[in-house]
Amino acid sequence: MSKPTPNGTRPEDGCALVTGASKGIGAACAQALAADGWSVGVHFGNDADGAQATVDAITKAGGRAFAITGDVGHPDSADAIFSALEAELGTVLALVNNAGIRDDGLAMQLSDDAFDRVLQTNLSGAFRLTRRALGPMVRKRYGRIVNVASIVGPRANAGQANYAASKAGLIGLTRTVAAEVARRGVTVNAVAPGFIATDMTADIPQDQLGAIPARRPGRPEEVAACVAFLASDAAAYVTGTTLTVDGGLSA
Ligand code: NAI
Repeated sequence: MSKPTPNGTRPEDGCALVTGASKGIGAACAQALAADGWSVGVHFGNDADGAQATVDAITKAGGRAFAITGDVGHPDSADAIFSALEAELGTVLALVNNAGIRDDGLAMQLSDDAFDRVLQTNLSGAFRLTRRALGPMVRKRYGRIVNVASIVGPRANAGQANYAASKAGLIGLTRTVAAEVARRGVTVNAVAPGFIATDMTADIPQDQLGAIPARRPGRPEEVAACVAFLASDAAAYVTGTTLTVDGGLSA
């Protein structure tokens, strides 16, 4: 049983929503939050089998989870995702904005479509889900929002102007929303992973790993542990910050 927060709210009074939780970092976050006692909405785009595998892993470990779909880049998705989840698991008290894409190219060759699609998914989607989450969280005077950003954004990475803009925007969004809702018991933070071994980085040459002081890629579970901390009661006084998880790459 988790400890009550100062106003008596507990994770079991509501649920956590992790977007893009069918695989990779999102799947690891969903499992870490479930292990901490959260009922978890396992959101997915079109990978229903992957989402079911995440739900099964949580259920097998004794937790509670529910798979839910929706394109986070679509303006109508946030309300549909939240309404369905509220009916199944209750108020969303923790939101992890993890769903994201990359579509790389040098800026002078980047198409409008590649720029807009990455911004819509990684930044506008996270904003709309955050906006939808805040009302119930503020009313309950308890909430945890964790945005999965990147070290790319604060830091340059040639060929990723669209991705960098989306992730730098997400860090700016994190800070300002944190300031808006801090007095309501809602924290808003980001994690900034470096090179994590998932499908997203499968095509990146392994020779780039030499630049990482830890000399290895990160594991999704290592990002998830940081997300779970930021979603916990222990992090109640941590807000508006970005926790870098990169094996020293940006140090
Ligand atoms: P991944 O490709 O394994 O997973 C991405 C997830 O997002 C998938 O479940 C996918 O279905 C979902 N998704 C993408 N677009 C969606 C949409 N429009 N609607 C609904 N769901 C959608 O990638 P990974 O590595 O697990 O990435 C997760 C997050 O971590 C992303 O935001 C990514 O930018 C970020 N990140 C990853 C790093 C890495 O090295 N793997 C480094 C820094 C940040």
